Amino acid sequence: MFEEVAGLVRADVAIGPLTTYKLGGPTSFYAEVSSRDELEVVLAAWRPTGLRLLVLGRGSNLVIHEDGIDALVVRLTGEFGGVIMEEETILAGAAVRLPQLARAAVAGGRLGLEFFVGIPGSVGGAVRQNAGGHGRETSEVLVDVGMLDASTGEIGRRLASELDLGYRHSSVQSHEVVLEARFSFEQGERATGEALMREITRWRKEYQPGGTLNAGSVFKNPPGDSAGRIIDELGLKGTRVGGVSVSHKHANFFVADSDATGSDLFRLVEVVRNEVLARTGIELEREIQFEGFA
Ligand code: EPU
Repeated sequence: MFEEVAGLVRADVAIGPLTTYKLGGPTSFYAEVSSRDELEVVLAAWRPTGLRLLVLGRGSNLVIHEDGIDALVVRLTGEFGGVIMEEETILAGAAVRLPQLARAAVAGGRLGLEFFVGIPGSVGGAVRQNAGGHGRETSEVLVDVGMLDASTGEIGRRLASELDLGYRHSSVQSHEVVLEARFSFEQGERATGEALMREITRWRKEYQPGGTLNAGSVFKNPPGDSAGRIIDELGLKGTRVGGVSVSHKHANFFVADSDATGSDLFRLVEVVRNEVLARTGIELEREIQFEGFA
């Protein structure tokens, strides 16, 4: 498979290290593409294979099984990492890191994207998940998105209003590759934006277990409540399966030791979900994405 694009697609590549949890085994095929041309060539070779396609962003919401996965994992780099300050909008490549986008915008006196400084994901991931924090979410600043349909090779532009963006949700499918996104902003004082970014960073340090192996919130918040508050109230902080435990700092963050496995995490998620369901009747829904698990 992939003989014709052998220079771009490698077999049996460890992708755990490309996720924030640093857990997990290899993927059967992996390609890093730095231009649209390279992406199109790789996808043309992928189309007849029947393999699952997984577009990897910053891996900040993803857990890979220790036995690995059978998929073509594609990671965008190079020209997908550019930010262009347009007159009325900011155009960012899918691979741009969200904190980098926030800082670039503020540096130019463009405000409204500061909340991205606290989200360790990519622009593509933010579109797909409608990432949010600190009272704001991607849908509020997203104008439109350049997308490539991997199954047809078609490139198109979709308005934010066409993406069914909701709480940590969009209609973007796994075969739809986000290429770039355009964001709105308000003109303002650079110092104002910098102060807000400092406050967000300070808040995260105080309330979230930064510097540990985690992927942010494990569960989505149920309507009108907080998964972290619920798990904490049930006394489940510190609950452990193998090398993964519920953070003592924030109960909706599950922190991995360096010898943990993805399965430890998967099981801990089930233990906590079942406990919450049994004791409160609330069905927590996972926010983090597991790949390679039954
Ligand atoms: N709380 C507890 N115990 C805990 C954790 C939280 O009692 O262990 C309480 C807090 O005191 C607070 C409430 O629960 O009253 C909500 O907690 P927090 O302010 O930390 O917000 P969250 O709802 O847990 C959400 C997002 C985060 C985002 C923060 C800040 C979700 C699932 N999580 O967390 O997003 O950073 O707000 O805006 O929506 C992520 O999605 O990965 C993520 C980190």
